[in-house]
Amino acid sequence: MSAGTLTVSKIMNGTVIDHIPAGKALEVLRLLGITGREKLRVAVLMNVESQKLGRKDIIKIEGRSLEAKELDLIALVAPNATINIIENYEVKKKFKVRLPEVVEDLLKCPNTTCISNKEREPVRSRHRKIRENPLEFECLYCGTIVRIS
Ligand code: CTP
Ligand code: ZN
Repeated sequence: MSAGTLTVSKIMNGTVIDHIPAGKALEVLRLLGITGREKLRVAVLMNVESQKLGRKDIIKIEGRSLEAKELDLIALVAPNATINIIENYEVKKKFKVRLPEVVEDLLKCPNTTCISNKEREPVRSRHRKIRENPLEFECLYCGTIVRIS
């Protein structure tokens, strides 16, 4: 093994989140609500070499698959991430995360008087993507802009 190579075992069943921007893996874990207390076996690789990205982060989660909504969350911090579903050591499915034009129940409107923040209203937050770089969403109820940095 050369200096600059870091080898982490393949997983048997679970999810590999690949092509995360270098240094963002912990943010992705936080978004997924993975704290380490779930007893899941998780490998986090940070700043490893990548042909496409120069450097990238990778997360390997043994024994857990992700829901569609969680994948949208990942897209917020890692818009080019690849999700690999591993079964019996093989990559069974591979796909890119996708940031939808409209996200529901995902972002909180910063406007405290917005109807989406009223506990007694059965309204889910809804935001429309208005810009990619920097990433910005607009609340569909009150027009407040949310910037994701
Ligand atoms: N992987 C894993 N355990 C397995 C199979 C794959 O941890 N049993 C990991 C690999 O280490 C890699 C990712 O899942 O980080 C995707 O695997 P693979 O598709 O084999 O790699 P690449 O072809 O390099 O992926 P891509 O083309 O998406 O860059
Ligand atoms: Zn609002």
